[in-house]
Amino acid sequence: MNIIERISSGKTLSVEEWIQAIDYNDPGYAEELKAAASVTRDRIYGRKVFARGLIEFTSYCRNDCYYCGLRRSNRDALRYRLSYDCIMDTADAGYMAGFRTFVLQGGEDSYFNDERLIMIVRGIKERYPDAAVTLSVGERSFESYKALKEAGADRYLLRHETADSIHYRKLHPDDMSQENRIRCLHDLKSLGYQTGAGMMVGSPGSSSRTLAEDMVFLSSLKPEMVGIGPFIPHSATPFRNEERGSVDLTLRMVALVRLALPHAMIPSTTALATASSDGQLQGILHGANVIMPDITPPAERGKYMIYDGKKITGDEAGENLRQIAESVGSIGYELSMERGDYIP
Ligand code: 5AD
Repeated sequence: MNIIERISSGKTLSVEEWIQAIDYNDPGYAEELKAAASVTRDRIYGRKVFARGLIEFTSYCRNDCYYCGLRRSNRDALRYRLSYDCIMDTADAGYMAGFRTFVLQGGEDSYFNDERLIMIVRGIKERYPDAAVTLSVGERSFESYKALKEAGADRYLLRHETADSIHYRKLHPDDMSQENRIRCLHDLKSLGYQTGAGMMVGSPGSSSRTLAEDMVFLSSLKPEMVGIGPFIPHSATPFRNEERGSVDLTLRMVALVRLALPHAMIPSTTALATASSDGQLQGILHGANVIMPDITPPAERGKYMIYDGKKITGDEAGENLRQIAESVGSIGYELSMERGDYIP
């Protein structure tokens, strides 16, 4: 049995075996992987790519991650918070445009305590009970996650960033802990959220071994969603002079995750689109099945800069749904505005 068949049959691979699957350098293998990932996604979700309306509602962050442009030490970052009314208006416009999932994403902003977040989740769910609400607001307590779930949140995105504990320490200052992050992911799962994990590819200190550890971690956590994008340096961070992650390697990781977790909802990320002009479509061709057009009000849109050059126009922009549908259509897929829940 070759390695692609072994992954597809649900066999548990060791770190060493994952390293082989990640490193194996052969053009035929790369094509085979891409084709197998595509077939797997088609088998479970068809040739649909699900659209999520992304609302980046606060650029304040209390954390100081070395890779991220929104880190608290970045004095030059443009900070904003959307008001409750503005978030509701954004959701209204998004709903009119056809979105049935709203992703509320933000830095870890203490202003948005449970009370305020609960108001926002309830506000959207009361208006639009048929829409899903996904939260992406970082590490919180079990009680907080529970209260937000009870308020109606359906899904939660929290990338694990890296499963390797030594690598984790290279990416984060001492006041953050990998243990807490993993605790959060387990809490979210146990509360019944559709839970998203994920990692950057090619972040400083990463290697095929750290990525292999990510694969082992993901295979055991079995998150319902997995976000993967290349690392892209931000000029106002300690990693300003580091190299960006490889697009090809990112695509390979997308395909491997698709094979290991056939049912996962996998976005073709903005970082992929930013790193390469056809990155987003390539993501889909490698097994991704979600795109997250940005519907943040244009006045704030350019301010959520987690890395340099983040795309905010073209196929990234919520206004351009028709264009997005066309480009997805051009490679034989259909842009779906359905809620698009995880199929167990
Ligand atoms: N390059 C690519 N991805 C990044 N993220 C943060 N900073 C960067 C960067 N410089 C990713 C992290 C985080 C998500 C919001 O964006 O994985 O979880």
